[in-house]
Amino acid sequence: MEKPLPDDLGWAATLGSLCALLFAVQAVTGMILAFYYNPTPDQAHASIGYIMNTVSLGWILRGIHHWGASAMVILVFVHLVYNFFSGAFKAPRELTWIIGVCLFLLTLGFGFTGYLFPWDQKAYWATVVSANIPKDIPVIGEFLARLLLGGETVSGLTLTRFYAIHTLMFPALMACFIALHLYLVRVHDLAGGTSSKSINELKTYRFFPEHLSRCSIGFGIVFAVILLLSIFADVPLEEVAGTVDPTYLPRPEWYYMWLFQLLTFFPGKAEIVGSLIIPVAGGILLFCLPFLSKTDLRGMADRPLATAAGITCLVGIVYLTLMGFEGARSYGDRVVVPDRQLSASEQKGLRIFMDRECTYCHHIMGRGGRIQGPDLSNVVAKNRTKEWLPRFIKDPQAISRWSIMPKYDLGEDELNALADFLLSLDFDSYGAKSISRQEVIGEKQN
Ligand code: HEC
Repeated sequence: MEKPLPDDLGWAATLGSLCALLFAVQAVTGMILAFYYNPTPDQAHASIGYIMNTVSLGWILRGIHHWGASAMVILVFVHLVYNFFSGAFKAPRELTWIIGVCLFLLTLGFGFTGYLFPWDQKAYWATVVSANIPKDIPVIGEFLARLLLGGETVSGLTLTRFYAIHTLMFPALMACFIALHLYLVRVHDLAGGTSSKSINELKTYRFFPEHLSRCSIGFGIVFAVILLLSIFADVPLEEVAGTVDPTYLPRPEWYYMWLFQLLTFFPGKAEIVGSLIIPVAGGILLFCLPFLSKTDLRGMADRPLATAAGITCLVGIVYLTLMGFEGARSYGDRVVVPDRQLSASEQKGLRIFMDRECTYCHHIMGRGGRIQGPDLSNVVAKNRTKEWLPRFIKDPQAISRWSIMPKYDLGEDELNALADFLLSLDFDSYGAKSISRQEVIGEKQN
């Protein structure tokens, strides 16, 4: 209670405490939600409906858990960024920083696993795409993806696994890491401002009452915002996964948007750069940061290189996030078509193909977005017919029971146009050329 704390940090010193308090909010609301939530594909969506409509104050509880999660991601991120720029990760606090990075990754892991729980369209497709990313890892990738998914694709087994991870494994890990983090903060004291003076030379204030009252005020404000959002902003719940919705476009949760946008820069085989190499390198860099710094100078002006690098990353992440919301760069920006004049129907099929973002899952001649389904450049070689293709696209599960491809309940002529386009992809007879989404969509306006 009486412990002196360095006074030159101001309110930023409360960031860590706010993160811990938000975790407590998530833990309490999560436990109560678990009374009612049923982690099976048959019941998950309905049980959330039950929480929203029947359980007393259930809607507010879910709201707090939902907005609390976003608030926690933001605060943990701000806490991390602040400690980067203020050099708080430097000796003797290397281990505190490393545990902090673990806590940040755990927070993102909570978001990722919890996201699937509503078992709605958005949750399902976002998970289908991201849960396949480990498959890009050489040698052990397939195994890791199976371990995560409980099978080849996202299914009920995935939901139970995510549930166990989200409600048992991660909370236990988080509690241990928070305890360790706090213990280390006690041992080494708060880092204080950017001067390298020891705590004895600095102006100090006490944990109680000064620090605690600042934390209470900060937490009061954050919690009030969460509460207001839970009351006045709708928590999204889309149609249950697997419903027919031809206008549906998969998008990840906002804090993964920048990663999702990053993927769009690396089409085809290069995708591994965006899906694995950059994120993993970034993670390793974060962990190693304390050991890369040569000086113990902590001010931003004394560390021009680190400051510039940090600002570049930050601007990049914010920019990619905004871009994701603008939809400026769609997934699978280029598509390969035969190098000849397309007929009107083929042209129409191509537009639907781009519009519906089939490139989200399909490559043509190795180009497109994230590959989930087969490369479509060989439908001709596979002898797919004008009769079979529309039937398959309209309802893949009717033809192949375990198909994970969404149903596209398009009109008869649209399905036929799509089939014509797919059948035009006969690269034995024609050369290939790649065109951009702009060219395709642009032609639509003419
Ligand atoms: C979410 C991923 C996904 C999206 C989006 C998607 N597909 Fe598929 N598609 C698949 C998968 C996976 C398969 C093959 C295995 C299966 O059926 O599960 C497939 C199979 C196909 C096949 C059969 C290929 C063959 O010869 O066996 C065709 C044709 C096809 N898709 C066309 C389309 C079209 C056209 C669109 C856009 C309107 C589209 N797909 C959107 C995942 C997707």
